Amino acid sequence: MKNLNTLLAGIFLAVAMPFGALVISSQVQLGSLGRAPAEEGGPLFPSLEPGLAIQGRAVYVSLGCVSCHTQQVRPAGQGSDIARGYGVRASVARDYVQQKPVLLGDRRIGPDLANYGARTKGLDIDALLRDPASSGATWHPYYSYLYALSADGKSVVPSERAVALVAYLKSLRQDYSSPEAKLKQ
Ligand code: HEC
Repeated sequence: MKNLNTLLAGIFLAVAMPFGALVISSQVQLGSLGRAPAEEGGPLFPSLEPGLAIQGRAVYVSLGCVSCHTQQVRPAGQGSDIARGYGVRASVARDYVQQKPVLLGDRRIGPDLANYGARTKGLDIDALLRDPASSGATWHPYYSYLYALSADGKSVVPSERAVALVAYLKSLRQDYSSPEAKLKQ
């Protein structure tokens, strides 16, 4: 019986110690990370998120966009993300300090959206979501139910979910310098 207790205690420690070390070491490394200026006296980045964008993130989660879109730009030597124009620099942990939940994603069926708000130039996001085929997006799911026609049938009216979602997509940017990722040396 004495040996059994020692064995159980050994098994418990073998599981608990590495698990505890993982949790504690991540907390020590990243737990106190916050917004920071790239240089002394400079503005703090990432910028505060607009309220509508925070609501839009909840819509993004509820519609499952994360199942096809990542939000993480890989460093230049580890993939072609920067060459493809997904970002101007690699993503760093500090980029995500305000985001709850963080939506890194693990499958990239559509393009990465980490820097989408900065890199998109004049794309009609409503048109893409409402009628992807007409906007040249051959593979995109339809989110037409987020839009309605006006009473006279002449214009498209976005729902509150669509307005928040588009605000969220436009708020996604990683085009600023931070202590770990300076744009100019
Ligand atoms: C089934 C996978 C899938 C899902 C789910 C999905 N997308 Fe996409 N998305 C794509 C693909 C693929 C593209 C590339 C365009 C194309 O070929 O259809 C794309 C393109 C986009 C683009 C344009 C990106 C660029 O670089 O121009 C945006 C913005 C976008 N999606 C937003 C969303 C949002 C918001 C949601 C959730 C409401 C969503 N997507 C859900 C697959 C998906």
